[in-house]
Amino acid sequence: MNKLFPVKSTIDSRRSARSYKMTPVADDVMDSLKNFAESISVPFEHTVEIRFFKADSTNVLYTTMKSPPDNVAFLAETDVVSISKAGFIGELFILFAQSKDIATCWYGHYKLFELERLMPHLQSADHIEESNKGYGYAKGEAAGRRAICISPLGYYEDRGLRLMDRITKTTASFRRKEIKELLENPNEYGGLSEDILYSLDLGRKAPSAANAQMWRFAFENNLKTITIAMPVGYKHFKWEHPNVDIGICASHVWLGLIDKGYNPTVSVKEDSDRAVWRISI
Ligand SMILES: Cc1cc2nc3c(=O)[nH]c(=O)nc-3n(C[C@H](O)[C@H](O)[C@H](O)COP(=O)(O)O)c2cc1C
Repeated sequence: MNKLFPVKSTIDSRRSARSYKMTPVADDVMDSLKNFAESISVPFEHTVEIRFFKADSTNVLYTTMKSPPDNVAFLAETDVVSISKAGFIGELFILFAQSKDIATCWYGHYKLFELERLMPHLQSADHIEESNKGYGYAKGEAAGRRAICISPLGYYEDRGLRLMDRITKTTASFRRKEIKELLENPNEYGGLSEDILYSLDLGRKAPSAANAQMWRFAFENNLKTITIAMPVGYKHFKWEHPNVDIGICASHVWLGLIDKGYNPTVSVKEDSDRAVWRISI
């Protein structure tokens, strides 16, 4: 992966945007987003597809806000490894969009019926029934390929929040755990190199559903391999697919190491019903 955007400043400036101007993404920017989506290269095999679609300016799809004209979906099979790869690749796209000043927000809970109307993708009409009370693709693993998550693409509409509200909102949304709290073995902290700490710092800043930050870091191979996974048995009462978030976090760690000049190897395997990423320098 070539350096297509400045890694740290892009990660630091991204926030989930939940209010959009009802204007389409400028043509030249849309072309660069499409080119990027077609040419993403990652050091592992995958079948993730990035699909663009148009939406009407109603709040049917996202329910809590109106859809801007342009949107994107990340499609894959629904086993834990495939959805985690959708997280990894989707986040590379989200960050590239951020570097072009395009606002985004990961949505795992969207109205499936409306998405199918706007972007027909299901292999059977029965699949609609599998969504969680109408939201998202299914509660657990399901047959075929699905839209794992979607995101609006557009321009942030500042709805004139008072300064205090804005500050509280930003800090609440960007609150993150410290690296030490995320280590399976906090005693290893002192032995970590500056470069590894730099990439873990980018990892901890990843977005996660309900800001749950369920990722935990561990090490193998004399601290040269970072493993990223959720704790065994982890469950969140509202978000059914935390392995997506784990892939998102893994992409930040990988980008951090690339930023520091490494060419890391990456693998992801299922272990105890979780996707476990291994990133080695
Ligand atoms: C996989 C995933 C799914 C998400 N689903 C939703 C969603 O359905 N609705 C929503 O409003 N935000 C959703 N979010 C956004 C998170 O709430 C947000 O990323 C988190 O609070 C951190 O805030 P930040 O993205 O501004 O850093 C999702 C995020 C991720 C990573």
